Amino acid sequence: MDQALCRCQGYRAVTLATQIETEGCAEALPFLRLRGIAKKFDHVDVLRRIDLDVPRGSFTCLVGPSGCGKTTLLRVLCGLESADQGSVICDGLDITQQPAASRHMGLVFQSYALFPNLRVEDNIAYGLSRHLSRGERRRKVDALLDVVGLSGFSRRKPNELSGGQQQRVAIARALAPEPSVLLLDEPLSALDAQLRQQLRGELQALQKRLGVTVVMVTHDQAEALAIADRIAVMQSGWIEQLGTPFDLYCHPANRFVAGFVGRMNFLPAMVVGVGAVVLPSGKSLPLDTASLPKGTSVELGIRPENIALAEPGAGPGIALRLRVVVREFLGASMRLEGVHEESGAEIALDMPLHSGMVLHAHTHIEAFLPATHLHLFAAKP
Ligand SMILES: Nc1ncnc2c1ncn2[C@@H]1O[C@H](COP(=O)(O)OP(=O)(O)O)[C@@H](O)[C@H]1O
Ligand SMILES: [Mg+2]
Repeated sequence: MDQALCRCQGYRAVTLATQIETEGCAEALPFLRLRGIAKKFDHVDVLRRIDLDVPRGSFTCLVGPSGCGKTTLLRVLCGLESADQGSVICDGLDITQQPAASRHMGLVFQSYALFPNLRVEDNIAYGLSRHLSRGERRRKVDALLDVVGLSGFSRRKPNELSGGQQQRVAIARALAPEPSVLLLDEPLSALDAQLRQQLRGELQALQKRLGVTVVMVTHDQAEALAIADRIAVMQSGWIEQLGTPFDLYCHPANRFVAGFVGRMNFLPAMVVGVGAVVLPSGKSLPLDTASLPKGTSVELGIRPENIALAEPGAGPGIALRLRVVVREFLGASMRLEGVHEESGAEIALDMPLHSGMVLHAHTHIEAFLPATHLHLFAAKP
């Protein structure tokens, strides 16, 4: 199938060697470059001087809360929207003024936007060059149907397909003209949870196999963590952090990213000197305070899986007495939502099921927050 695709579509099958090589080149010269992109709608800043580099052959996700500008940024990338300021560069060429039709980018939206009166094969063939012979069109469509796992469905109309199948057709249709970039705007949002998970795996495998550069918008950070090589976390028209899923989860740049990507608990504290913070309880902790001056209000962050139920005293950290208010069975673990009654802080922690402990709501527990897993953030303004 890979060979058929390479022949029919001109995509390269990505071997480990070429991937590493591409990544090396990508570092030096990104395939897509957004520079200082700004956009206002009705005098309101929707994009605020955004810079973004997208390496060739990478899978980049744009995530962020609803209304933060993800779709607008994608539309600027493909030319459906013009930026007020800034430039879009693709493969070294400034395409800022180029119309969408000549940018050679494939688009897939949340609503599948298939032509309802056309069969699957004609939907896919729609974007193919008129100069291809019937045989060539047939071969391309068959190869694409194979790629998206829909061989045998070519004669169906969209209304004879499930949501997941329609979205696969939309992806095949976008890939048909061999775009240099595939842009996806919440392509999985309309699907149920199980199908979503299946299709996101397929999408990731497909992208790696074809080596096509993908930029995908999603509001679902878990989806982005699972699928992307790199994630741009947006807020209010601005990129707060760009990094690998590991970077974002383990080294969030600020409080917003920490709270948006995965679950993070926050505790108020104050810098009392170089390398020392104090909690409202008066307990002082040695922590890297960087260049924050004495007296700065900060927040300590810790992920639920890093909180232990063991007795305190295992090293520097914070011991908190919590009242359990909610128990949530997650399968591999039990999520406990507790309240620290002294400060009112809400703290979630994950208890592995094999711990064998049975805890009910309103039980009091001793939670231990090891200093090695604490993050320090400037407090929310
Ligand atoms: N064509 C438009 N006219 C006026 N406002 C718009 C238009 N498109 C988007 N907006 C506004 O711009 C902001 C960002 O929208 P959008 O990029 O769609 O956000 P997201 O995709 O992150 O949810 C929102 O406040 C939205 O209402
Ligand atoms: Mg959107």
